[in-house]
Amino acid sequence: MQNADASLATATSLDSAYVMPTFARFGVEFVKGEGAVLTDSAGKQYLDFLAGIGVVSLGHRHPAVVSALHAQIDRVWQVGNYYHEEHRGELACAIAQLLATTTDEIGHVTGSTGTPWKLFFSNSGAESNEGAFKLARRWGERKLGGASGIISAKRSFHGRTLAALAATGQDVFHRSFGPFPPGFSSVELNDIAALEAAVSKPADGADAVCGVVLECVQGEGGVWPADPDYLRAVRELCDERGIALIIDEVQTGFFRCGAPFAYQLAGIEPDVVSMAKGIADGFPMGAVAARAELADLMAPGDHGSTFGGNALAAAAGRATVETLVSEKVGAHVIAAGQHLARRLAALPHISEVRGRGLLRGAQLDVPIACELVSAGLGAGLVLNRIGDSILRFLPPLVVSYEQIDEMADRLAVLIDKLA
Ligand SMILES: Cc1ncc(COP(=O)(O)O)c(C=O)c1O
Repeated sequence: MQNADASLATATSLDSAYVMPTFARFGVEFVKGEGAVLTDSAGKQYLDFLAGIGVVSLGHRHPAVVSALHAQIDRVWQVGNYYHEEHRGELACAIAQLLATTTDEIGHVTGSTGTPWKLFFSNSGAESNEGAFKLARRWGERKLGGASGIISAKRSFHGRTLAALAATGQDVFHRSFGPFPPGFSSVELNDIAALEAAVSKPADGADAVCGVVLECVQGEGGVWPADPDYLRAVRELCDERGIALIIDEVQTGFFRCGAPFAYQLAGIEPDVVSMAKGIADGFPMGAVAARAELADLMAPGDHGSTFGGNALAAAAGRATVETLVSEKVGAHVIAAGQHLARRLAALPHISEVRGRGLLRGAQLDVPIACELVSAGLGAGLVLNRIGDSILRFLPPLVVSYEQIDEMADRLAVLIDKLA
């Protein structure tokens, strides 16, 4: 126990001396993870309902990913994108097939659109969105007379780089960091008339719109889903105007919402898709995908990354994506997500449960989210909040019914105590 206290004390003091204070960290040091369980330096176990912020899709240290990484560690790690390497092509092919998948409105697979997709591998969600914006602007340059405007939704979140922040429809993230790249603006989500007005003026020139970027469920904004009818209307509007529809699947992709990608729940297919988080079970990786027609507008030198899709990332990504498919994780997410939503809706002081699959937000009718997350650690729960009154749940996609029940039981006690 003393060792654990010393280890946490060292971590805390080194962090405060040498690491930038961009995160307010909790006083806990995790030293091990397995499935949906984390263990701290004192040996205490926690049910993990955050999954590294929606990342460890197959759970911590899934054996398929562990063995793929071990095998690759003994071969080669990084050669640079000038050369071919194992796994990168297979991973791109597997994701391209998932992107072309069609599902019903719950997420059960029904077929394929047959659309050819091509990918660029990056290292994070923000970087994937940067690539998406460049693709849309290349499209605008070549097909729309130089149009460069990109419209996003209010309350959206697209990352921390300057263009991703410019697209992020929340002023709180913009303070102090301007000027931002021009050409970005945002409109209310689920208001098709607002989007129509935004893409209509100005009608031509560089200020005209080349891209619309949306999340199917706004995760960081508080788990607010886009209405499927709205998404279908957006697709129609973009088709009419020749505008590239970008869907940001960084948080919702890789079966998080039941379907391989959340846009499939609305029966639409975008032109560009950004992704990251769940792609490689915790190995840092991202990607931007585009329909081949758009992707082929890029030429050598137009975009790049030193690390993107390196041999270790590609091996981890391939093992993750192939296992998500072979273990039919999507079907589990649909059922377990419904169970989680039912259990949350039955808890005291929860007035609404939003979201899809295993991305859920519980609206509290008392502003105790902060206290609940802190008390959760005491009760062996890793929880997450957005603001004072929303709890966000992003467990590993392999979380069991028993683990959901156990979390809900412990959370009920905490709410009773704190409300
Ligand atoms: C929808 C969405 N887009 C982009 C990002 C940024 O991803 P990253 O932190 O990997 O840059 C996030 C992160 O939470 C996200 O939820």
